[in-house]
Amino acid sequence: MCEYIPYKGIDFPHLSVTLKDLNFMENEFQVRDDDIFNVTYPKSGTTWVAEILSLIDTNGDPTWSKTIPNWERVPWLESPDTVEILQNKKEIPRLITSHVPKQLFCKSLARSKAKVIYTVRNPKDVLVSLYYFSKMSVYYKDPKSFGDLMEKFLTGDVPYGSWFDHVTGWLELVGKDNFLLNTYEDLYWDLRGSVLRISKFLGKKFDNAVIDSIVEHATFKSMKENDMANFRLLPNVYMDQDKSPFMRKGVTGDWKNHFTVAQSERFDKVYREKMHDCTVKFPWDRI
Ligand code: A3P
Repeated sequence: MCEYIPYKGIDFPHLSVTLKDLNFMENEFQVRDDDIFNVTYPKSGTTWVAEILSLIDTNGDPTWSKTIPNWERVPWLESPDTVEILQNKKEIPRLITSHVPKQLFCKSLARSKAKVIYTVRNPKDVLVSLYYFSKMSVYYKDPKSFGDLMEKFLTGDVPYGSWFDHVTGWLELVGKDNFLLNTYEDLYWDLRGSVLRISKFLGKKFDNAVIDSIVEHATFKSMKENDMANFRLLPNVYMDQDKSPFMRKGVTGDWKNHFTVAQSERFDKVYREKMHDCTVKFPWDRI
């Protein structure tokens, strides 16, 4: 049965975290200057960026990405026992994924030069992706309907809290040298350009052949076929990919196939209210 655990006002899927580890992560986990964080609100391109970071780490060699599951290559910081594993990890850099909102994230980040890549996606597409994920995975409660999940999403009554708070919280770091704002839409429309931008942010300069290899192995098709990236290694009880594959559509704008006009207008109204003070312009704001 799927349950959520509240930690400081934010719900987390009970299978994905323990309160002890969350508390340790927030207050005691020591971020290192050479750490690289892949931070997202769920369903925003987490797995995609994890793949790109793995391929950058190996200078484009796909062997690691094709032999070790992504949750070991770029582990979720908040997963049970992960903080302990990471603390003992000698390899540099540590590649770390997280969905934790900024206000609950490791306090030690503020004192470090660790690099953070924060990936945002059009929240309407996040909601659609989340709807299918909630139906196929044991981590989220089965939504009653798309409309019902939308209302919960808009009020933040979902795991990891409000999308709006998550995004505006992390965007407080925009302008810092160790923070890169990335979008799913940029990855989608210009994967090569995005790989170059992320590589440059990480201080890597690659020749064309390396970039070609990273791009080739980070496409939707490659990742959908790669069992180390598509979560097919997980038993059906965790993710039932017969209901909906994890690597579902991998496009932008799928929300147009799911929202009614009224739902879209209501969503836009809440979006405008909540993002009123946000000065960052996202790709979907321009359309
Ligand atoms: P869809 O459900 O819209 O297809 P996360 O990794 O944060 O859980 O996000 C999962 C979403 O990212 C899914 O979206 C998945 O298909 C998409 N995704 C993962 N890898 C991708 C890739 N290489 N290209 C395009 N989309 C990708």
